[in-house]
Amino acid sequence: MCGIVGVTGNDNAVKILLNGLEKLEYRGYDSAGIYVNDQKGQDYLVKTKGRISELRSKVTPDVHGSTGIGHTRWATHGVVSVANAHPHFSNDDRFYLVHNGVIDNFQELKAKYLSDVPFRSQTDTEVVVQLIDKFAIEDNLDAKAAFLKTLSLLKGSSYAFLMMDREQPDTLFVAKNKSPLLIGVGDGFNVVCSDALAMLKETHNFLELMDGEVVTITPDKVAIQDADGNAVERKPFHVDMNADETDKGTYPFYMLKEVDEQPNVMRKLAQTYLSEHGEPQIDDKLIAAMEAADRLYIVGAGTSYHAGLVGKRLFENLAHIPTEVHVSSEFAYEQPMLSKKPFFIFLTQSGETADSREVLVNVNDAGYPSLTITNVQNSTLSREATYTLLLHAGPEIAVASTKAYTAQIALEAILAKALGEATGQIVAQNFNIRQQLGLVATGMQAIVDEKDTLEQLSNDYLMKSNKAFYIGRGIDHAVSLEAALKLKEISYVQAEGFASGELKHGTIALIEKGTPVIGFITQAKTAGLTRSNLQETMARGAKTLTIVRESLAIEGDNLILPDVDEMLMPLLSVVPAQLLAYYTSLNKGLDVDKPRNLAKSVTVE
Ligand code: M6R
Repeated sequence: MCGIVGVTGNDNAVKILLNGLEKLEYRGYDSAGIYVNDQKGQDYLVKTKGRISELRSKVTPDVHGSTGIGHTRWATHGVVSVANAHPHFSNDDRFYLVHNGVIDNFQELKAKYLSDVPFRSQTDTEVVVQLIDKFAIEDNLDAKAAFLKTLSLLKGSSYAFLMMDREQPDTLFVAKNKSPLLIGVGDGFNVVCSDALAMLKETHNFLELMDGEVVTITPDKVAIQDADGNAVERKPFHVDMNADETDKGTYPFYMLKEVDEQPNVMRKLAQTYLSEHGEPQIDDKLIAAMEAADRLYIVGAGTSYHAGLVGKRLFENLAHIPTEVHVSSEFAYEQPMLSKKPFFIFLTQSGETADSREVLVNVNDAGYPSLTITNVQNSTLSREATYTLLLHAGPEIAVASTKAYTAQIALEAILAKALGEATGQIVAQNFNIRQQLGLVATGMQAIVDEKDTLEQLSNDYLMKSNKAFYIGRGIDHAVSLEAALKLKEISYVQAEGFASGELKHGTIALIEKGTPVIGFITQAKTAGLTRSNLQETMARGAKTLTIVRESLAIEGDNLILPDVDEMLMPLLSVVPAQLLAYYTSLNKGLDVDKPRNLAKSVTVE
């Protein structure tokens, strides 16, 4: 959950590293650093606590070079400090290393091999760089051999390393296991990055790396060696994304831009996956594999898990196939009893979430078919699943996921429609998904145009309280969970998403005078019941707010949502919740895009 960048053979190395790190800040932003070497005997190490902007301010004009490495950190081992920031270096100043991931046996390695070595930091990374140095000296190994020997001793669920050796100052050494790392191929130079986003200004051609490979990169050569020591030839793939798409333009925060992009994402999904007449255009083999299953298992984390809860309703209603939804970090280690013919659907915006990947590894070992629904082409979960469907939502940079959630639900609806048609479900045949997604896009636009109202509601309901409830039943409950997560993660209000009927079984004791309780009422069957549950909280002093589908609205409701098919109402009802969270965070003066303690891509278990 850190970001790594590297470059060799470019006199603008410092600029490339800093720009790249800025693009990777979503992966971690508690400390950062760069190391550059100018090939003429000058090298520089600059590290800081805080964001890349702090690092920039510490990089003085004399810092220059043509080869270098950089890192933005989300702390795992050791507190946030300059000493714990990367790059880490060996005590003789020869090797410099940046690292993403966790080395489980670093304490054992330290005790076994490095008991006489003084350490500057509390990190597992420093153990690795000191070990490389030790093997280079004591076993008289060159940098690559010492790197390989060290790698062979490491136990870690996932890691990625990028190393430099002052004795070969134009060379980058790279290795990874499960953690994402790409090599970008430039004209006379090469780059390394955790995510192609970081280097789109430099190149659109990237090489993916496989676990166990070790790569040596010089300005004009990328030499890949597999785990058995064989040379590997690999062609770069083209990343078809404009570098501007990763900028926030005139928006104050990425989150607001991404909320506003949702109507277009709906249209893009319809264009990509539906014919002019609305027939789903999904790979026949994928549909056949899903048809052959007796149960779907949706696996995801956080917001993606919440999108899966809505997906369950879609698959069960439209395709009539039993569907379970699981939190990936739980499923990985407490696997439930599976049906005879399971089919797995991984929902993951980033395609890199370690918890979800752990489940996929087990699924692959067991030989079950799987689909990854992701926003990131060529991401780990995309490569490793049997099938992939892309969300086409454009880069999502804000830590709080918004457009990926709605894109996941819309794509689940398209897939459920395709599957339902294949299995001859009348309800699927009658479900005009193209028309519905059009209505959703228009409805979303109407909601995002009501920003002033939502800012006012945030002021009236959420700014003065340190707790809040979102409640609803069925898929309104699923949206409540997502709404509460949004509010928690960016505004630090203690929020709960709750099944409204369950409140009276204990949790209603928390309601006191002025507690904000926000009710979602979008489903005809449960509208009256949720209203009663809201009344129960009002009777105990709650300050209630309703988010209601137009055809179910009554006098006094606060926010009225346009009508679309009930199954797709989460696509609309979540949008005001996203904006309520946004304005609460904004008006508290918080960093909306980079909330405390979090990172966008969670590549540790
Ligand atoms: O990339 P993924 O969809 O697999 O990420 C899963 C969660 O970490 C993510 O959805 C997280 O909950 C969001 N930051 C919430 O806004």
